Amino acid sequence: MDFTGKIAVVTGGGSGIGRATSLKLAGLHATVVIVDINEENGNKVAGEIEALGAKSMFVKTDISDFGQARAMAKRVMDAFGKIDVLVNNAAWDKIQPFMDNDPALWERLININLKGPIYVTRAILEYMTKQETGGAIVNVASDAAKVGSTGEAVYSATKGGIYAFTKSIAREMARYKIRVNSICPGPTQTPLFEDVQQTMPKVVEAIKKAIPMRRVANPEEQANAIVWLASDEASYITGQALSVNGGLNMC
Ligand SMILES: NC(=O)c1ccc[n+]([C@@H]2O[C@H](COP(=O)([O-])OP(=O)(O)OC[C@H]3O[C@@H](n4cnc5c(N)ncnc54)[C@H](O)[C@@H]3O)[C@@H](O)[C@H]2O)c1
Repeated sequence: MDFTGKIAVVTGGGSGIGRATSLKLAGLHATVVIVDINEENGNKVAGEIEALGAKSMFVKTDISDFGQARAMAKRVMDAFGKIDVLVNNAAWDKIQPFMDNDPALWERLININLKGPIYVTRAILEYMTKQETGGAIVNVASDAAKVGSTGEAVYSATKGGIYAFTKSIAREMARYKIRVNSICPGPTQTPLFEDVQQTMPKVVEAIKKAIPMRRVANPEEQANAIVWLASDEASYITGQALSVNGGLNMC
C-alpha cells in the first residue's frame, strides 16, 4: 500500500484507533490531517507524525457542529487543495443500562456519533465529488451495530445509523469514483475501552472468554483494516461493513 501524494483526514485522530490509523497512514507516506476536539492530543499526534518525516496538520473541530465541520474541510482544502481519504472515527460512549439513561445522554450520543460523521461526510464530499480522482471514506461503526450491546442501547443505535448511512452513501457516490465502507470493531484496547475495564472488570473478563481469539484487539489491528479499505488495494470494495473482532460475532 502506498499513499504518496494523498491527503487523509482522520477524525478522532488524537487517541486510540484514530491515532493508530493516522500513524499507519503517515508511515505509508500520506499527509494526515488530525481532526479532534481534544487540542492537546491532536497536536501531540500531529507532532508524532512529523517526527516520522511525514506532513501533518491538526484542526481542532467539534464534529457535532456542522459549521465547524465545514470550516475544517475548507481549511484542509486551502492548505492542500484536495482530500483523498476521510476516516470518520471520532465517537463517544458511556455504558449504562437504558432505563438509567436520561435524554441528555441520548442527545450527546446522537450528536457526536451519528450527526458528527454525517456533518463531516457532507462537508468533505462538497469537495471530494468535484475531484476527478475520486476518493475513499471509511466509517468506524461497531459490532454493536450488527448484534447490539447491553448498556449501549443508544450508542448501538447511532452505530446502526452509521452502518446504514455508509451503504446509502456508497450507492450515491460510486458515480464519483468515491468508495465508502465501514469497519465494525469488537472490543479494542483504547482509552474508551479502558473506562469500561475500570468500571466493569468482570464484564470485560466475560467478553474476553466469549471471543474465540480470547483477547481484545489492539488499535493497530483496527487501523490495518481501515487503511486497507482506504487504499487502492480495496479498489472494488464499496458499501461493506467489515467486522474486526477476533471472531466474537461472525455476521
Ligand atoms: N474501543 C473499542 O472497544 C471500540 C469498539 C467498537 C467501536 N469503537 C469505535 O472506534 C472509534 C474510536 O474509538 P476509540 O476506542 O479509539 O476511542 P478514544 O476515546 O480513544 O478516541 C476517540 C477520539 O474522538 C475524539 N472526539 C470525541 N468527541 C469528539 C467530537 N465531538 N469532535 C471531535 N472529536 C471528538 C476524542 O477526543 C478522542 O480523541 C469510535 O467510533 C468508537 O465508537 C471502539
